[in-house]
Amino acid sequence: MKKYTILGLESSCDEVAAAIYTTEQGIIASALFSQTEMHKRYGGVVPEIASREHIKKINAITQEALDGARMTVNDIDVIAVTNKPGLPGSLLIGVSFAKALAGSLNKKIIAINHLEGHAFSACIENIIPFPFLCITASGGHTSIYDIQDYGDYTTLGTTLDDAAGEAFDKVAKLLQLGYPGGPIIEKLAAEVGFEDFFKYPRNKNYDLMFSFSGLKTAVLYDAVKRGAYDLQKKELLDTSMELKQKIASSFLVCIADIFVQKVEKALSESDDYKALAFVGGVACNKYIRSRLEDAAKKYGIPFFFPSPRYCTDNAGMIAFVGHYKAQQEKFSDLGFDIL
Ligand code: KG4
Ligand code: ZN
Repeated sequence: MKKYTILGLESSCDEVAAAIYTTEQGIIASALFSQTEMHKRYGGVVPEIASREHIKKINAITQEALDGARMTVNDIDVIAVTNKPGLPGSLLIGVSFAKALAGSLNKKIIAINHLEGHAFSACIENIIPFPFLCITASGGHTSIYDIQDYGDYTTLGTTLDDAAGEAFDKVAKLLQLGYPGGPIIEKLAAEVGFEDFFKYPRNKNYDLMFSFSGLKTAVLYDAVKRGAYDLQKKELLDTSMELKQKIASSFLVCIADIFVQKVEKALSESDDYKALAFVGGVACNKYIRSRLEDAAKKYGIPFFFPSPRYCTDNAGMIAFVGHYKAQQEKFSDLGFDIL
């Protein structure tokens, strides 16, 4: 194996991050600036704010990662940068910065698909046997992958509309719980024991495709039916904690049921999978993890998930993918685009 020092850069959404990965030691330093606080008041990410903040922060965040590794930019062999998918303005900041560094310092560069970063993020801290099944769920994406080897994967299903994390965020907004919605919904659901009070419909007819926008509407109309929400005024009428807990719990159990159903479908269709992985921001959710772990057990395979810092957007996963691509000599030329 050739020895490389990789600088990973991530700026596809509202996080700007840098990480250093070496062949001998793996991830040795990372730095991240999250804008979650800035977007809170809007209940979601505002693209214009995101890219403007990235411009201000990307240089300092890269320097922080280099300082953490006790390196200068001259010690870097390869720059790995997210070039898709994501918010165009946000992606452009990271890609332009990476190209400027690579071009001026004569370093190699590799364009990385953000989703490949998530898909392999559970491999950063674990040795996962190939082939494995991977479910990615974040604020922007929900997909299920057949992963054969490093960089060799096929999308088995993705979402037809909203992403799972987006559904958490929208339901939380409806319940006036703040942003991001996932952690607070999990907390409220835990308080009432993850019970399925309202039995929202499960989308059983989409094969390995996901659809969450119907569920969001089902939550809304069920609240209207109970006299808890005024559609005209767009206002929650019953703001009791009891109702919020019951909706949060029923919604979370429904999402977990959908994930389990998809995973069991994929596992029942092939005996090849040696493991199951769950990644992305939603993989911070302990309840969904426990349900997916049970599903993996049922099929006699181990279950893996990344630690929280590699679940949500991060540059470690970009540096990790950059490293195996460097080993495979899959470098990009400077002309690559975003998206
Ligand atoms: O991966 P991520 O940081 O950003 C994207 O690439 O989109 O994921 C953020 C998403 C948010 O929608 C947030 O509500 C969700 O992950 N999330 C959770 C939990 N923690 C974060 N969803 C469910 N349960 C959680 N504990
Ligand atoms: Zn992401």
